[in-house]
Amino acid sequence: MAELGHDVVGIDVDQHKVDELQAGRPPFFEPGFGEVLGRAVESGRLRFTTDMSEACDATVHFVAVGTPQTKGSYSADLTYVDAAVDGLLPFLSTGDLVVGKSTVPVGTAARLAELVEGAGSGATLAWNPEFLREGFAVQDTLSPDRFVYGVPSGDAGEAATAVLDEVYATALATGMPRLVTDYATAELVKVSANAFLATKISFINAMAEVAEATGADVTQLADAIGHDARIGRKFLNAGLGFGGGCLPKDIRAFRARGDELGLTDTLSFLGEVDAINLRRRERVVTLTRELLGDLAGRRVGVLGLAFKPNSDDVRDSPALDVVKKLLEAGAEVTAFDPEANGTAKRSFPELTTADNAEDAVRGADAVLVLTEWTEFRELDPERVGVLVAGKKVVDGRNCLDVGAWRAAGFEVRGLGRP
Ligand code: UDX
Repeated sequence: MAELGHDVVGIDVDQHKVDELQAGRPPFFEPGFGEVLGRAVESGRLRFTTDMSEACDATVHFVAVGTPQTKGSYSADLTYVDAAVDGLLPFLSTGDLVVGKSTVPVGTAARLAELVEGAGSGATLAWNPEFLREGFAVQDTLSPDRFVYGVPSGDAGEAATAVLDEVYATALATGMPRLVTDYATAELVKVSANAFLATKISFINAMAEVAEATGADVTQLADAIGHDARIGRKFLNAGLGFGGGCLPKDIRAFRARGDELGLTDTLSFLGEVDAINLRRRERVVTLTRELLGDLAGRRVGVLGLAFKPNSDDVRDSPALDVVKKLLEAGAEVTAFDPEANGTAKRSFPELTTADNAEDAVRGADAVLVLTEWTEFRELDPERVGVLVAGKKVVDGRNCLDVGAWRAAGFEVRGLGRP
């Protein structure tokens, strides 16, 4: 927002996070974010605080807090969204716009609108979902595929649309599509987009299971069906499947909301999408067993811990899940991720990490590539072959040049590949 020319105050309950951001230090790894943050803080257009009363001076209030999976259930935990809106109410004035960014179960915006309007502040609520991908967050924020504004009907909705148009004027001027909808549609655009993406990944991973049973190669299959423009090649990479802070919890929360709406049958396929996805993690452990036999006491070098490359995020990371399963089976695991060693150790302190890929694979009986960082794709198999104790590799992301690894004497297992 500061980059777009606005004066911005960022409010969070976490003092440490606020201090780091105010010092221009990103509290997480995201390509390009440090530069944008530094520029914005330096310019004086962006500052951070834990003091909610500083919202007083603002006219547009973005609520962008998390909606994680509730412990012990599939539904979304709305505690943070509710607390943020509640905390904001005393500081709203007539004409202000409260803009929800968080991914929420359909129906939440209508409920929050009643709260905002009921407070007698004269403020309006809009729902404006966020579609950014981690690793591309800056680019996706500054030039998204589309804007969606969920607004109330009538004059209030028109006024809210005009405010959002002003906020996003720079991006809209480049011809970015912008759709104005009701609250429920805007909320559903977000969850259905994520459900579709998750379904596409699980579809190709189901084909990987069929390929494994028949000797076919799922990567060639994906290339071939991807040439059909109606299907498209994107999000057809078979492998360890989806993780992260969005797709897994969003499809579960969507199902839970479906149950509440009496739509259990309608969204039950998302249960299959989830199950196919989780089976891929077991499959990697099975392939490791095929290569090594009993895993007890065997040394496994793991490359990759983040849920995807260019991120240090290990929330619901398939890679970290595989590491846990290997440890449960008695294997000795040393892992390396270019950015996620620290976050992984914070969430799983028993983990042994190495400072680089070579140290992770040194003396290993098998090497597992679980996140497709470019530096792992580019590893020289001859060099790795000198370091390991056993020339065996599981390519959990189908990202290696299998021919080159076999030529270097490695026994290679991929997902959905002969
Ligand atoms: C996702 C959506 O893409 C984004 O629009 C939304 O705003 C938030 O959720 P993100 O979680 O950052 O973004 O990652 P994404 O690139 O979608 O990847 C999600 C997971 O799917 C990763 O674990 C990735 O490895 C996996 N994936 C992706 C596959 O297994 N195969 C693919 O072909 C694509």
